[in-house]
Amino acid sequence: MPTPLIEPDPTRSRVYLDHAATTPLLPEALAAFTDAAARVGNAASLHGSGRAARALVEDSRERIAAAFDAHPSEVVFTSGGTESDNIAITGVYAARTAADPLARGVVTSTIEHHAVLEPVEVLRTRGAEVRLVAPEGTGIVDAAAVTAAVADLEQAGVGVALVSLMWANNEIGTIQPVAAVATALRERGIVIHSDAVQAGGPCPISFRESGVDLMSLSTHKLGGPMGIGVLLAARDVALEPIVQGGGHERGLRSGTLPVASIAGFAAAVEAVTRDRAAESSRLVRLRDALIEGALGLDLGIIVGGAWTPGSAHDRLPGNVHLIVPGCEPDSLMFLLDTAGIEASTGSACQAGVPGRSHVLDALGLDLDGPVGVARLTLGHSSGPADVEAALAALASCIPQARAAAAVGAGT
Ligand SMILES: Cc1ncc(COP(=O)(O)O)c(C=O)c1O
Repeated sequence: MPTPLIEPDPTRSRVYLDHAATTPLLPEALAAFTDAAARVGNAASLHGSGRAARALVEDSRERIAAAFDAHPSEVVFTSGGTESDNIAITGVYAARTAADPLARGVVTSTIEHHAVLEPVEVLRTRGAEVRLVAPEGTGIVDAAAVTAAVADLEQAGVGVALVSLMWANNEIGTIQPVAAVATALRERGIVIHSDAVQAGGPCPISFRESGVDLMSLSTHKLGGPMGIGVLLAARDVALEPIVQGGGHERGLRSGTLPVASIAGFAAAVEAVTRDRAAESSRLVRLRDALIEGALGLDLGIIVGGAWTPGSAHDRLPGNVHLIVPGCEPDSLMFLLDTAGIEASTGSACQAGVPGRSHVLDALGLDLDGPVGVARLTLGHSSGPADVEAALAALASCIPQARAAAAVGAGT
């Protein structure tokens, strides 16, 4: 396990359990970042400093490609997962409809991140025929339902431009059948994208073997710096850029490359790849202890999404998603925060906008009244003491949150 930069606080005053929102920087990533940030040079400049910056970028590109079993020419640097998703969705649709105006079909799932769902909704306003596939009650989308949605569009005379299915869900951590979908659709000439932002750290990913054409990754979810990501893009995929400028990154993402962030990304992903197997087993043990402990509190907690104890096949190793009927989500979060537990109600990427999660709704649970959610996500800085602290806090905060909800409802 890499040495965490955030040393466990001896007073246990803050317990960081929000690794799905962002991870603490790994020491390797910080060292590579600060080393590169101390140097000058635009990677597009032709003088010595520029060439040195370019060499660092290309070395990092090769190391990132190796970590995801991709070719270096398939690595397109972006500002993060959101931009990678937007380039994939909007760029493929623009290119496909330019070549064939009937190819207006877009298939994705109801549990995608907003960075996928929002651009898809924009395409709908521009004439796209959209099919949103709901998951099973497990929070896992059935591959056959995705291919059925494609067949449905094709029968209606609509060509399918794009299928987008996330690798792992950011709220409930469920792992989706991306390879099965890619295999089923391989011969149909449909571009397949996967948002692998949450999976890039914990899951071993081979871009080559996955069968997908495009894959979004983000560094700050795997121990690297914020504001840098990658779109892995097969060379034969037609993509229109969404930003115009100097033509950097195969013309797909213009803008001066953030050399230090790219160096930090490469260092982080190498450390994560080196430690993945041991770290995954360690996190599965912590995750299971936290889920089993929470269920053992006898507070009517429900685990959101598939969970097989001891396994990282259907659920990310560090994801704990607890549904707590009878309390308002915000008050449970506030109480946990006051108790020193930094968790989340779901996606941190909704920019603080309150409202019930579309992922929770997609699970189809029959829940009346207020429903609290505690997404507690473990990562490289987590240990057994964090699990104990979280369980103690849940035991006291849930009854308090329920009492507050009852007062609010006037009961
Ligand atoms: C599944 C998923 N996709 C996309 C994003 C957006 O990534 P970024 O924060 O790098 O823009 C996130 C962030 O939480 C995510 O979890």
